[in-house]
Amino acid sequence: MFKEIIGKSKSSEQVRAFISKASKLDWPVLLIGETGVGKEVVAWNIHHLSSRKSKPFVPVNLASIPFPLAESELFGHRKGAFTDAKEEKTGLIEDCGGGTVFLDEITECSLDLQAKLLRLLEYRELRRVGETTMRNVDARFILATNKEPLKEIKQGRLRRDLYYRINVLKLRIPALRERKEDIPLFIEKFLQELKEGFREEKRLSSKAWEKIMDYSFPGNVRELENLIRRAYIHAGGKEIKPEDISEEEEEEEEEEIPVKLFKEMVIKGQSFWQVVHRPFLQRDLNRKQVKNILSLGLKETGGSYKKLFSLFHGGEGEKDYKRFMRILKLHRLQ
Ligand SMILES: Nc1ncnc2c1ncn2[C@@H]1O[C@H](COP(=O)(O)OP(=O)(O)OP(=O)(O)O)[C@@H](O)[C@H]1O
Ligand SMILES: [Mg+2]
Repeated sequence: MFKEIIGKSKSSEQVRAFISKASKLDWPVLLIGETGVGKEVVAWNIHHLSSRKSKPFVPVNLASIPFPLAESELFGHRKGAFTDAKEEKTGLIEDCGGGTVFLDEITECSLDLQAKLLRLLEYRELRRVGETTMRNVDARFILATNKEPLKEIKQGRLRRDLYYRINVLKLRIPALRERKEDIPLFIEKFLQELKEGFREEKRLSSKAWEKIMDYSFPGNVRELENLIRRAYIHAGGKEIKPEDISEEEEEEEEEEIPVKLFKEMVIKGQSFWQVVHRPFLQRDLNRKQVKNILSLGLKETGGSYKKLFSLFHGGEGEKDYKRFMRILKLHRLQ
């Protein structure tokens, strides 16, 4: 199914022009834009117009892979390269079968891995973890971030050399609030899809339109889509009224989990290793949640990590404390 780029604003025209240009070249691409602006759809369109279109499109979100595992997930590993490497494994990049790899949230991987990505982009070669030889790979790379690259470079989360390597084919996708004239087209499309799905047509009242056009959509197109779906379901009749329209609830779940785990340590006396570290390694907790837990703790301890370590029942000795600090550093959780 082709996901067409919707929008009639000048910036949407520019997005389409960029896609057309980028699809003719096999160079790395950088997409910048807030969450939900359509970075992945743009990447998908570039791939599907390129000479690699019959090969796979492989999205990889670097924020969802824990730091220590990221290199082997992407590049693969030799059997025995580390404790859990029971078998030899090819990584996502070698597995992409000559297609396009979409690396999302590039500032969320270590600087060391970024250096390896740079090498991969420059020479199209990689080394599996634990191996000594380089392997050639046939793939096209599209990278994305929802952060401001220059700021990330300053703060040490993005390598300057990697940024300048991908800076050539770069597109900044504006937020939806900066191209409000696109909103009606999106709404029409979403209502049309709902009509087909539910076999019932619903329209927005003029007051409902006003309410939507006033809204700033921090979650961009994804948020607009969810808002329209909720309003459609909520509306009793054929007309969607302002009271059917509700804003996105704050990321309640993400907030709740850190508070719960914080209490498990601080009130129930469970240890950081059990409650936070293990689920994090098993990817049941993401970095953002761990950071939230840590900042709840740091508020209690007035910013002291030493006190945080004992508040979270990290252990008795200096060795445990060092391990704790090493892990925070390794995952850039400080
Ligand atoms: N111009 C567009 N045309 C059609 N659909 C769009 C467009 N922009 C965004 N969408 C839709 O909005 C939703 C969010 O888009 P997408 O996942 O590409 O955003 P993103 O920038 O990758 O977000 P995130 O940073 O959260 O990963 C998707 O359902 C996508 O199909
Ligand atoms: Mg995305």
